[in-house]
Amino acid sequence: MFDKECIPFAPSLIESMRSLGYSFQAAIADLIDNSIGANATKVKIISEPQNNPYLIIFDNGSGMSKDELYEAMRYGCNNPLEKRKDNDLGRFGLGLKSASLSQCRKLIVVSKKNNQISSFAWDLDYVVETGQWLLKGFSEEELNRFPCINLLSDVDSGTYIYLSEFDRIKAGTSNLAATFNKCLNDMTNHLALVFHRFIEDGLVIEVNNMPIESRDPFILSNPATQRLKETPIRIEGQKIILKPFILPHLSKITDKEMIKAGGRENLKTEQGFYIYRNRRLIIWGTWFRLEKKDELNKLARVRVDIPNSLDYMWAIDIKKSTATLPDMIKNNMYNAVYESVIMSESIYTFRGRKEKKSSDINYIWEKIKVRDGYHYLINRNIPQIKMLEETLDEKQKKMFHMVISSFEDSFPSAALYADYAKGNIEENITEDSEENKKLWKDLQEQIDYVKNNNLDIVKYYKMFLKVEPYCKNKDVLEKIRKEIKKYE
Ligand SMILES: Nc1ncnc2c1ncn2[C@@H]1O[C@H](COP(=O)(O)OP(=O)(O)OP(=O)(O)O)[C@@H](O)[C@H]1O
Ligand SMILES: [Mg+2]
Repeated sequence: MFDKECIPFAPSLIESMRSLGYSFQAAIADLIDNSIGANATKVKIISEPQNNPYLIIFDNGSGMSKDELYEAMRYGCNNPLEKRKDNDLGRFGLGLKSASLSQCRKLIVVSKKNNQISSFAWDLDYVVETGQWLLKGFSEEELNRFPCINLLSDVDSGTYIYLSEFDRIKAGTSNLAATFNKCLNDMTNHLALVFHRFIEDGLVIEVNNMPIESRDPFILSNPATQRLKETPIRIEGQKIILKPFILPHLSKITDKEMIKAGGRENLKTEQGFYIYRNRRLIIWGTWFRLEKKDELNKLARVRVDIPNSLDYMWAIDIKKSTATLPDMIKNNMYNAVYESVIMSESIYTFRGRKEKKSSDINYIWEKIKVRDGYHYLINRNIPQIKMLEETLDEKQKKMFHMVISSFEDSFPSAALYADYAKGNIEENITEDSEENKKLWKDLQEQIDYVKNNNLDIVKYYKMFLKVEPYCKNKDVLEKIRKEIKKYE
């Protein structure tokens, strides 16, 4: 047996490594992963969409010494099998190079640590020309010509990345500046979502001096977001934490919150699990085909926190934008939230009913659980029905109940569910004075009926205090109470 070294052919391999499938936004996110891993508190993205656009990513993280930077520029500088620190968002030792060069032909990195400034560059054309894995270095004078390089003077340590020659974007457009501008906008949206937890904790990411606002998919700033019980699942001694949320009813979400949550039109597609690796969002809006993306659970989103120590189990890809979860984890996750989310009462019930559910109110419609779902029945104990019943003979009573039953049997529950899920149903609570008058007039007519039939007026007034729609109207309630006082 003998050994023979077989070194990859630089121009082919470095070109092939560009085709891992990075999108522009995923590439920039991969570079920001590195800034976060270097404990940066501020990341500045600077770019001017023009005919030969460039993009700078500057961070105030720990920076790199010359040796460290040289290692960082090496393809495969870290072994993917190594244990990583808890806050490390990296895994493969490739991102800095492969993400950057997936979009452009020239990657320059300048880093400052212990007052030393070091720099190296990968220039694809140079690698092709020389046929070797040759990095370029720069003199101080050359460095000083890079745009915004003075940002490094203001920090004790940090890293400056300069990307240029965006050949891939250039090849696909006749208006490079406009297309690049669109890429920047999409990138801003993407970063706002994938790093939202870091931004909420104080990380500042600026795009051309404008801080990115976080996009919290659970809209936790809205008090009406329901936070369901956190459920841990243990896999090989490691903990995965699931926390389900139910977004508020559409009418309670402001336009700004809606945009942050992904837009009204995307609510349905963005339901599902939101998988975070070390608090960085990797995949979202999926039930992993374990559940249909139904109209009925479109408000359900489940936050899943997976530590990087489980990377080996879920086959995370180099781009950190897809991952294949083993069936065992998927099924455990699904079972852990099935009861609370997929079959969530709160999604299936009426918003007003649930919030106002109180033993003090006699609801007109009652929801009754049956084996294969729910039935809606009219509550026979409401005064509107009771007073009529009291004046009917047995035959009439029977007829009356048959009419009510026919209403119940034809209750359009399926259509109502769908309309409700689409946000087409508004609760009709109004404090409008004309409405109040009408409500009071209706009630008076019913009380007249009670009087004319010699029924107990106070008893009925008291019953009306607790029944819809009167119990929801302050004005009417006050008037009823006054009437009761007159009789007592
Ligand atoms: N902005 C930065 N500040 C400080 N160090 C950095 C920075 N960017 C990269 N590095 C260093 O360079 C190394 C290589 O980065 P690279 O992104 O290529 O691989 P990785 O982060 O280890 O893994 P992955 O391929 O999963 O991203 C990092 O491990 C880190 O030590
Ligand atoms: Mg990395």
